[in-house]
Amino acid sequence: MTHAPVGLGIAGLGMAGAVMVRAAAAHPGVKLVAAAEPHDAPRAAFARDFNAAAYASIEELCADPAVEAIYIATPHQFHAPHAILAAGRGKHIILEKPMALTLAECDAIIAAVERAGVYLLVGHTHAFDPAVRAMRRIVASGELGALGMIAALNYTNYLYRPRRPEELDTARGGGILFNQVPHQIDMVRLVGGGGLRSVRAQVTQLDPARPTEGGLVAFLEFADGAAASLVYGGYDFFDSDELHFWISERGADKPRDRHGAARRALAAPQAADETRLRIDQYAYGADAGGPPAHQPHFGLMIVSCARGEMRASADGLSVYDQNGHREIALPNSASMPGRSEVLDDMIAAIRGGRPPLQNGRWAKANVEVSLALLRSARERREIMLEHQLGI
Ligand SMILES: NC(=O)c1ccc[n+]([C@@H]2O[C@H](COP(=O)([O-])OP(=O)(O)OC[C@H]3O[C@@H](n4cnc5c(N)ncnc54)[C@H](O)[C@@H]3O)[C@@H](O)[C@H]2O)c1
Repeated sequence: MTHAPVGLGIAGLGMAGAVMVRAAAAHPGVKLVAAAEPHDAPRAAFARDFNAAAYASIEELCADPAVEAIYIATPHQFHAPHAILAAGRGKHIILEKPMALTLAECDAIIAAVERAGVYLLVGHTHAFDPAVRAMRRIVASGELGALGMIAALNYTNYLYRPRRPEELDTARGGGILFNQVPHQIDMVRLVGGGGLRSVRAQVTQLDPARPTEGGLVAFLEFADGAAASLVYGGYDFFDSDELHFWISERGADKPRDRHGAARRALAAPQAADETRLRIDQYAYGADAGGPPAHQPHFGLMIVSCARGEMRASADGLSVYDQNGHREIALPNSASMPGRSEVLDDMIAAIRGGRPPLQNGRWAKANVEVSLALLRSARERREIMLEHQLGI
């Protein structure tokens, strides 16, 4: 049975919003009907490209009857108020990571969504990548035996891309723990079955000019004894895409030897207004970007089971077992792999009544892990978790 496309509104036409607009435009199950964005240029570009309503405020977007679901890609600190507002107007919600900055905010979102009877899906994270989903399927099927451990590692230029002031202030949700590590947490929890027991971590703040967390090393233990290590470095020195065929996070071929380029660009005098630079470089309309040639990924993640190991490859999944190495090809989805799966899950909920796995409670458990990693580093001890749930 075919369904009418879901009327989708976009809140925030910045970097994340621009990517989702491209994914949604190519997805047959959704229709882009409106957006909200305070900056004029991305708002005008959206209105022009889609002949759709483009509002300056999210309040107006939430009042638009053509909007059935809203993808919220506003800065972290607005996730809770914007999700609560959207739920109160009866809109289904796709909320960017992190769900919110505190567990109390997560609870308030969950309560608002339940009161309104709408669906909430927290994504995108790279746990929606086809390769990560395939690894989850293989672990759950038992095909390679019991899961033993997961090693996730990513080195990027994160800290030196142009940043809004709050993105460099941990107390306001800045740094990698609220922005980058949520990808690793969601990936590891999905593949490992969700229920973590405890975490131990250390973080780094290596540049006084960017005074927030730029590095993490962490040990996560699941309730069943399986374990994961997370390593993240965002200092623009080493680039771990070198270990992934020189393919970028979104799946594009990447020029080599750009080490330090983000730092050098930021040192230029015209880079003083980073918030402005962000809009000029990344917001909707600034960069059309073609469809990715390869699968998306988030660094290197190796999953070890009793009878084999797996990692994402350029165009699929590499499986290593006693018979050697084999490739499982993963089709490039109709729109954009990773984002397309987010939209698929939301459509399955709204049109098919199948609640998403990455719902409010799942995402609250992710936020708990981010907060516990920070606390573990501060107190230099293992932190036990209380809000985890299995698949
Ligand atoms: N999943 C991913 O791969 C991914 C990638 C990038 C960002 N994100 C997430 O998306 C969110 C936004 O990050 P970003 O990098 O796109 O930031 P950004 O600064 O590039 O974009 C945020 C946009 O929101 C707009 N905005 C601010 N207040 C608004 C309001 N009240 N109503 C409507 N729009 C408003 C800003 O003007 C800006 O254009 C963050 O929470 C981040 O974690 C996720």
